[in-house]
Amino acid sequence: MFVCSCFGVTEAQVKKHAEEGACTPRQIASACKAGTDCGSCVRRIQALLGRGACPRRELADEGRPVLSDLVDAPVPAPVAMPATAMPATAALTVAALTAAAAEAA
Ligand code: FES
Repeated sequence: MFVCSCFGVTEAQVKKHAEEGACTPRQIASACKAGTDCGSCVRRIQALLGRGACPRRELADEGRPVLSDLVDAPVPAPVAMPATAMPATAALTVAALTAAAAEAA
């Protein structure tokens, strides 16, 4: 069953990323982009993550990296974008991810 229709991400894929260490919707987004377009799937992703114990929750709680593959990846330089140039869907996604991160904290 698809969780994120924008990127064709299934429930099984979200669970796989969670097993590999993704503990938050933001980390799921980093792993497969789910939740980064319209944002309507973020609460569903949060619900899926809330069902099982995160195997690396202690690391996340301590602020330590839980996705070792992504930690070694180069971090792209931030791109300055005025809020007025941001597409409405991107603004909604940022708001949804920020709200989900606040709930998870
Ligand atoms: S359904 Fe996941 S970003 Fe749109």
